[in-house]
Amino acid sequence: MKHLIAPSLLSANFLDLRKELDWINGSEADWLHLDIMDGVFVPNISFGFPVLNALKAVCRKPMDVHLMIVEPQKFIPEVAASGAYMMNVHYEACTHLHRTVAAIKEAGMKAGVTLNPHTPVCLLEDIVQDVDMVLLMSVNPGYGGQRFIEHSVEKVARLREMIDRKGLRTLIEVDGGVNLETGRRLVDAGADVLVAGNFVFKSADPVRTIKELKAL
Ligand code: DX5
Ligand code: ZN
Repeated sequence: MKHLIAPSLLSANFLDLRKELDWINGSEADWLHLDIMDGVFVPNISFGFPVLNALKAVCRKPMDVHLMIVEPQKFIPEVAASGAYMMNVHYEACTHLHRTVAAIKEAGMKAGVTLNPHTPVCLLEDIVQDVDMVLLMSVNPGYGGQRFIEHSVEKVARLREMIDRKGLRTLIEVDGGVNLETGRRLVDAGADVLVAGNFVFKSADPVRTIKELKAL
């Protein structure tokens, strides 16, 4: 499958979100990645449901919501109501991950499980068949613009092997420090979806940058 690109709104100009949404809607972006942080699971706070609900009215790309919060299962109804296509919860934040994944699907969303950089992909052996996507963090979550962790490429390859061995269609998404150089290597290793924040939003021509990431 040709890989997908999901620009991360975390690096956008929040004073002018309508303008940002206008060019995103007109770009080759496949999804819009939305980072929700609680200041507890990660050492930063971003935006929450009032912003997601406002975006719902204007965003024409499927919303890929990445919850960097403790007890994400508490907010499944709110995430569903905000129009999310994909709800990503962290493996490290879910004691009853199987139950949470089922509840996300029952609420009408695709279910994604996210791994922090230190969490090995082998821990997914008994859940990967139930999830629509695995989101591998290639930085420690909490901030945009961080340096790519090299080991992530090997993790993608190992997860690709697991998914193929089981004959599954689970997607692999990678988030953090993605640019043309790291993106190329991630796609070669088997990534299906690339998230890019700073590399897209801080570039001179974000629409063109998305086109270049798509063309990898
Ligand atoms: C980090 C977020 C990312 C972030 C990526 O915690 O999950 O989605 O926006 O930003 P870049 O692409 O700048 O590393
Ligand atoms: Zn993210």
